[in-house]
Amino acid sequence: MAETINVLVSEEEVDQKIRELGAQISKEYAGKQVHLICILKGGVFFMCELAKRITVPVTMDFMKVSSYGDATESSGVIRIAKDLDETLEGKDVIVVEDIIDSGRTLSYLLDVLAKRNPASMKLCTLLDKPDRRVKEVKVDYVGFAIPDEFVVGYGLDYAQKYRNLPYIGVVKGID
Ligand code: IMP
Ligand code: MG
Repeated sequence: MAETINVLVSEEEVDQKIRELGAQISKEYAGKQVHLICILKGGVFFMCELAKRITVPVTMDFMKVSSYGDATESSGVIRIAKDLDETLEGKDVIVVEDIIDSGRTLSYLLDVLAKRNPASMKLCTLLDKPDRRVKEVKVDYVGFAIPDEFVVGYGLDYAQKYRNLPYIGVVKGID
């Protein structure tokens, strides 16, 4: 069966939500500077749009983690494929993710990053699949809680495809 994409969250809804998150973060970090950490590759579209909606000074860094799993399931064994360029020492950090699924990737990563002495560290995710959680993770900012379906778009891929879709869609016709 061929893959088809059904729209789950429209481009307008995503844009509006990112504006709201940007406004909330700007308010909560008034008088401070935020250091956004993008988890590559999926977080990149969301982080760029979010950064544009934050009105306090923003700096950014990028990290890539690979989890040893198949296309649709993370294993919990995580490798840092690209580390941050800058220190986190004394910074007000927000980790920006595309989606929290089992929570394995982020629970591991937040432990690693916390050891680098940021002044504060929060987690912001565009999407959350709470029904899938295996490892508890404290999520501070959530765009949309979604049902347990495999989604693509806005940075999220299926076999590296569909990251560039400007909306969130559900892939039908896989597995
Ligand atoms: P976790 O460790 O299970 O929370 O996995 C999180 C990572 O799995 C995300 O950063 C995505 O890269 C990937 N992932 C989880 N669910 C989806 C999905 O529905 N579509 C695309 N990628 C997903
Ligand atoms: Mg990801």
